[in-house]
Amino acid sequence: MKKIVVALDGHSSCGKSTTAKQVAQELGYAYIDTGAMYRAVTLYFLEHYVDLTNPKKVQEALNNIEVTFHRNLKTGRNEVFLNGLNVEDEIRKMYISDKVSEVSVLPAVRHAMVAEQKKMGKRRGIVMDGRDIGTAVFPDAEVKVFMTADVEIRARRRQQELFEKKQLVPFDEIVENLKKRDHIDSTRAESPLKMADDAHLLDTSHITVDEQVDFVLDLVASALLQKELAQ
Ligand code: DC
Repeated sequence: MKKIVVALDGHSSCGKSTTAKQVAQELGYAYIDTGAMYRAVTLYFLEHYVDLTNPKKVQEALNNIEVTFHRNLKTGRNEVFLNGLNVEDEIRKMYISDKVSEVSVLPAVRHAMVAEQKKMGKRRGIVMDGRDIGTAVFPDAEVKVFMTADVEIRARRRQQELFEKKQLVPFDEIVENLKKRDHIDSTRAESPLKMADDAHLLDTSHITVDEQVDFVLDLVASALLQKELAQ
């Protein structure tokens, strides 16, 4: 059977990764969390005091960065590695969330990450989540979904997630971080967060994860059927 690309874009913390992971598992496809790639780059930049206003230093740093994904055999989770080091937990911390959008606006960073992501999905059979997958990385994705949700509902879910990782973050701080990231992500010049014309809108404010997953899987089923019929 032909394999397709599933692109899930949308606002921060509206359930993209959870949905993408389950859809990929259901289809036997690879799952790529592109936000994790930008987070890993941010971690490197912070650790090496890279001056974001100096394009030469930014490019030099990018030349020294390798972001890869490896499956954790114990948990079955795809985890992100920065130059061979597992940074899956570190990149989810608040100090990275606070800085990641500022790093993601840099054209050199976007060019490097988008090129990498295109390579990863060259053979299709992939579910990718992010901000610009349906618009810039895979404009030809067979299934495009744009996810959103009420900001307070997103913040509550995010707070719970962080709490489960033993990080206590005040609710207002999370709301502010989500609003700030949404704003920077949507207004940047290079591949901004924007719903593709042919994307399907999915508001996750009042639905369950299973319903989110089913919504995407139904679209996948129709896309696959269309492909079969077109052959
Ligand atoms: O999905 P996430 O919240 O982990 O993403 C972290 C940040 O990375 C997000 O605020 C913007 C950036 N990002 C991006 O610019 N483009 C992507 N395709 C994915 C994430």
